[in-house]
Amino acid sequence: MERIKQAIEKAKKQASSGFIAKPQASSAVAQPLAELGALNYVQTKVISLRAELLERNRIVAYNKNSNMSWSFDLLRTQVLKIMEENGWRTLAITSPTPEAGKTVVAINLAMSIAHHTTKTALLVDFDLRRPKVGAYLGLPMEQSLNDLLSGEAELQDVLVNPSLPRFVVLPTRKSVSHSTEVLSSVAVGNLITDLRERYDSRIVIFDLPPLLSCDDAIAVLPKIDCVLLVVANGMNSKKEIEDCLHHLPAANLIGTVLNKIEIEPRTYSY
Ligand SMILES: Nc1ncnc2c1ncn2[C@@H]1O[C@H](COP(=O)(O)OP(=O)(O)O)[C@@H](O)[C@H]1O
Ligand SMILES: [Mg+2]
Repeated sequence: MERIKQAIEKAKKQASSGFIAKPQASSAVAQPLAELGALNYVQTKVISLRAELLERNRIVAYNKNSNMSWSFDLLRTQVLKIMEENGWRTLAITSPTPEAGKTVVAINLAMSIAHHTTKTALLVDFDLRRPKVGAYLGLPMEQSLNDLLSGEAELQDVLVNPSLPRFVVLPTRKSVSHSTEVLSSVAVGNLITDLRERYDSRIVIFDLPPLLSCDDAIAVLPKIDCVLLVVANGMNSKKEIEDCLHHLPAANLIGTVLNKIEIEPRTYSY
């Protein structure tokens, strides 16, 4: 009980201190997106992003000067601090139920890491029942995690760089049957280890299914260093949050993001 109270209190505090995610699709300036610099993606396919599609899907952190992305920058700072202190490099994003905003938070957080740190942010779509990362970003996905899982592609064929330095995505094109078994498999365990170990300066973010809808998240969480819980304001009950914490005793819960709350965008001021 104490743990639940603390988590709810923490979520409230984070909301009042701005540790929240409230991206609004704004009609703001469409900036040129292709500024590939520091890294040379020899094998990774580079895909251009469309500002209008991103904004429609509430992806605001692609533009590092956007006054909408500050909440993700705050989130990034807090998440990375805890991860660095503990030597964690893989982060799961989940929620009690669908539609809480996991995918929106996962993409924005990964972009914020890529923009503002020297780390590479690799975002993996592990919501094998309702994969959305590729669609939200407008990726073509000729090859994806589906092909990697079926043995028809190699890892280097399925990673894409959506024209933001240090941002790499492993998308999933279509839903996968027997997803719980797949996520519990040795092959997926090896993939996670491979993604984690290959580069020291890489943070790997896994967009997971909701905790309370199926066993997929529970199956894969033991293989991921830590977890962030996205809770939708007004959508998730106290009971659902309690049930999630009950499912997470062994996981390293980094914090809770209270999503979908009404706040004004920050404007530039002295
Ligand atoms: N902060 C927010 N405010 C309003 N709508 C949001 C917010 N975050 C996400 N959404 C919307 O909620 C819906 C579900 O978001 P999504 O990230 O796909 O959820 P999940 O991955 O948890 O199922 C989408 O239509 C998305 O645009
Ligand atoms: Mg999703």
